[in-house]
Amino acid sequence: MSAFWPPGRQPDRKGTLLIARPIHYLCDMSASDLIASSAIAAVVSDPRLPDNPIVACNDAFVALTGYDRDEIIGQNCRFLAGKNTEPWLTETLRTGIRMCRPAMVEILNYKKDGTPFRNAVMVAPIFDGEGALEYFLGSQVQIADDKARANDARRGLAHDRVAALSPRQREILIEMAKGKLNKQIAYDLGLSERTIKMHRAAMFKALGVRTTADAIRVAVEAGY
Ligand SMILES: Cc1cc2nc3c(=O)[nH]c(=O)nc-3n(C[C@H](O)[C@H](O)[C@H](O)COP(=O)(O)O)c2cc1C
Repeated sequence: MSAFWPPGRQPDRKGTLLIARPIHYLCDMSASDLIASSAIAAVVSDPRLPDNPIVACNDAFVALTGYDRDEIIGQNCRFLAGKNTEPWLTETLRTGIRMCRPAMVEILNYKKDGTPFRNAVMVAPIFDGEGALEYFLGSQVQIADDKARANDARRGLAHDRVAALSPRQREILIEMAKGKLNKQIAYDLGLSERTIKMHRAAMFKALGVRTTADAIRVAVEAGY
């Protein structure tokens, strides 16, 4: 498997990317930083590698799917799909990935033991400092089978949480949902990176989230 990874970018057994040399384009954030402390299942994939494999996943993803880290890292996330997965929903994800736009669907997926579950999955691109595609973030929430009601409730809640932010916090969240990280947001809004970090910390607190992945998920759920 090690031949699969470019030098200096090999994941360890916990799925954390081991960075052997500094990589400027992450704007001070590693792949696992995006998701590690999230209570929501999440993965990061690297579209620069063949077949866009997962390069980091968090404990919640392991718990949700029942797969070991060793079985997850290096695989494309399509392993969650199965016999009754809706092909049109997979197509929505595929199109989002191809167009480098956030996509969210409630799709039928399968755990390792074969148990089907309804997965409210969000996939969003993350860009580097030069605006080139760097990673895809995926976050997965098992939802009740009463699909329509669960979706409406979640969307309404996300909308209210975003509406309660200050205009600056909301502006930064929307930029994050476009896949931009601190440095690029600072540049685009004409603010210092420090100011962005300050607003971002307050925004995370207001939303009650711990990671970039969680914040982006709220924004996409709210329709941004
Ligand atoms: C970061 C990321 C997370 C994904 N998570 C899921 C998922 O939870 N469930 C799912 O069915 N597909 C997920 N996908 C989509 C599949 O990986 C794949 O792109 C899709 O099934 C299309 O498959 P194809 O490449 O064979 O056309 C994810 C994709 C990415 C990039």
